[in-house]
Amino acid sequence: NWTTGNILEEQVDRIRQQIGDARVICGLSGGVDSAVAAALVQRAVGDQLTCVFVDHGLLREGEAEQVERDFVAATGVKLYVANEQERFLAALAGVSDPETKRKIIGREFIRAFEEAELAIIAEAAAHGEKIKFLVQGTLYPDVVESGGGEGAANIKSHHNVGGLPEDLQFELVEPLRALFKDEVRAVGAQLGLPQEIVGRQPFPGPGLGIRIVGDITQERLDLLRKADAIARAELTAAGLDNEVWQMPVVLLADVRSVGVMGDGRTYGHPIVLRPVSSEDAMTADWSRLPYDLLARISNRITNEVEGVNRVVLDVTSKPPGTIEWE
Ligand code: XMP
Repeated sequence: NWTTGNILEEQVDRIRQQIGDARVICGLSGGVDSAVAAALVQRAVGDQLTCVFVDHGLLREGEAEQVERDFVAATGVKLYVANEQERFLAALAGVSDPETKRKIIGREFIRAFEEAELAIIAEAAAHGEKIKFLVQGTLYPDVVESGGGEGAANIKSHHNVGGLPEDLQFELVEPLRALFKDEVRAVGAQLGLPQEIVGRQPFPGPGLGIRIVGDITQERLDLLRKADAIARAELTAAGLDNEVWQMPVVLLADVRSVGVMGDGRTYGHPIVLRPVSSEDAMTADWSRLPYDLLARISNRITNEVEGVNRVVLDVTSKPPGTIEWE
C-alpha cells in the first residue's frame, strides 16, 4: 500500500543508507521538485546537507523570498545564496534571440552553481570534511523520458535549474526517482512545506528571461514581474489555480501600440496572457477563463503597470504553439 506516509519513511531510510555521515549539496530552483528533494534529504541527514540557491534575478515576484525565508523557516535547512542578478543581466545585455538567451542563462547558471559549490567545498574542507553527494529532484517521468534517448525532438533546449555540471564529481542522490508530480506535492505537504511552494505551477528554468520578447533589462523585468503578480493574484482569487496548468505572462518588449489614457496618448507595450490547460505540457489547449476575470486582469495591469497599455489573450493550442513564447 503506497501511501504518502510510507513513501516518506522509505525514502528517508534510503537516503540515510546512501549518504551515511557524508556531506551533501542540493541546488534549489524555487520549484517543487528541488524543494521536496531537499526537504527529504534534510529530514534524513539534517545538517550534513547544504542547499544552494543561485538567484539569477529572473524569478517572479516573491519567489526568491519563498526560498530564502519560507523554505528555510519550514525546514531549517542550511542555505547558501548566490546573488547573481547583475551577472545574468550583464551576460544577457542586448540579446533577443530565444535560443541564445537560453544558452547564456544555462551556461551562467552552471558557472554560478559551480562557484557556489567551490565555496561550500572549501568551507567543508576547513572542517576536514568532503562533499560527496549531489541531490537531484529527478522525477519518474524524467527518468522515463531520458531513458527514451533522443526520441523527443529538441524543439527548445530545455535547461533545468540545478542541472548537472558536465564533469560531475559527485555521486547522485535522487529521492524522487520513483514519484509522479502529484506524489511529490503530497510528500512536500507532509514535510510541512508552504503551499506556495508545494502548489507552484511549472515555471521554466530560464524564468522571465524567456518571457520577454526582445532583450532583457532590469526595467523590463520589473514591469513583467508586476504584470505577472497581478495576473497570478487574480487567477488565485477567482479560485481557478487548479483549472489552469500554468499561465505564462509575456511582455512584448519589441512591440508598441498606441493607446489613450486620460487626455493623453500612450505608446506602450502589450502584455500577453497565455493560460493553458494540459496533462503533461506535451500538448495543451488555451484555457477558457471567464471574461470577467480576464477583464479584471486587463484593467489592473493597464492601470497599475506603467508602460503597458494593452493586454492580449493567446488562443493558440499546442501544437502548433508552444506554451512559452520563446
Ligand atoms: P513549451 O514552451 O516547450 O513548454 O511548450 C513545455 C513546458 O516546459 C516548460 N519549459 C521549461 N522548463 N526549463 C524548464 O525547466 C526550460 O528551459 C523550459 N522551457 C519550457 C514550460 O514552462 C512548459 O511547462
